[in-house]
Amino acid sequence: MKRPHLLLPLITLCLTGCGHSPNVFDPQGPAARGIAQLGWLLVGLGSAVFLLVMGLLGYALFHRRSPAPDLATEHLRGPSATTRRWVLLGGVVLPALILAIVLVFTITVLRAISATTPNAELTIEVNGRQWWWEVHYPTQQITTANEIHIPVGQPVRVVLKAGDVIHSFWVPDLHGKLDMIPGQTNEFWLQADHPGEYWGECAEFCGIQHAKMNFVVVAERAEVFAGWLERARQPALTPSDPLLQTGQRIFLNSPCAYCHAIQGTAAVGNLGPDLTHLASRRTLAAGALPNTRQQLASWIVDPHQIKPGNLMPASPHYTEPELQALLAYLLSLQ
Ligand code: CUA
Repeated sequence: MKRPHLLLPLITLCLTGCGHSPNVFDPQGPAARGIAQLGWLLVGLGSAVFLLVMGLLGYALFHRRSPAPDLATEHLRGPSATTRRWVLLGGVVLPALILAIVLVFTITVLRAISATTPNAELTIEVNGRQWWWEVHYPTQQITTANEIHIPVGQPVRVVLKAGDVIHSFWVPDLHGKLDMIPGQTNEFWLQADHPGEYWGECAEFCGIQHAKMNFVVVAERAEVFAGWLERARQPALTPSDPLLQTGQRIFLNSPCAYCHAIQGTAAVGNLGPDLTHLASRRTLAAGALPNTRQQLASWIVDPHQIKPGNLMPASPHYTEPELQALLAYLLSLQ
């Protein structure tokens, strides 16, 4: 019975160590709240039934009828009226009542959280890839990655797809999980009560880097969100600084441009994340690294050190000045 005591600090350590700790017991949106309430109801009813059964068992064990009944004659007489009542009440009526309560609450919550939202003003398409998230705002013609901006306090329609294998989209603070299946489109919605950052993760094993497939939902007040949309819609600026120009030339003449897109340049690849506003994002490599100059350098030179098996080839051939110019250019992509 020691194990839970060892596990708890370990889990706590991991959650704090990972820097963000989504918590299904602390819902931050209407859908997650419905799921949490249903969860607590199930835990409550389950605990009540457990205590009741244990209580009756204890009673039966410690309050033996005396003198001991003659089992042979009792068997011949059949169960008494009291025994019949106990079996009927505890074995039929009570379970039926509890299951009916659970059924009604489950159907109510499921209806509320799985309903598509015809009144959602914003639609976002999220495409699960090994091992990152392509995020597309079809009406606004915006493509980004691993970061989903939404306006706070209103439902946002989310269309889920998969580019290669099955993934599962999960923002524990805001909603339950929904699978992303190649060749199929699934749909649900997200809504956050308050502005903030809500971490999401892939909840379906999708290959060796499944654990490093995270993303963040950034819920913003309407005017802040409108500002983000406006910036995200802009193509990258053509650099005037010579260092940035060199960096851009290196990028466009390297294999980078075959897989990544930077709007406003000749790079239109769609195998990897869109980099048009790379510098504005919080993380690199789908939450695996903070977005800093040092980490970006490590990622470009040897991405397999950080996420073994990912599709981005290593680029150890850049000279130091080349790498610095490339970094300067990429970090100018606000
Ligand atoms: Cu994608 Cu697990």
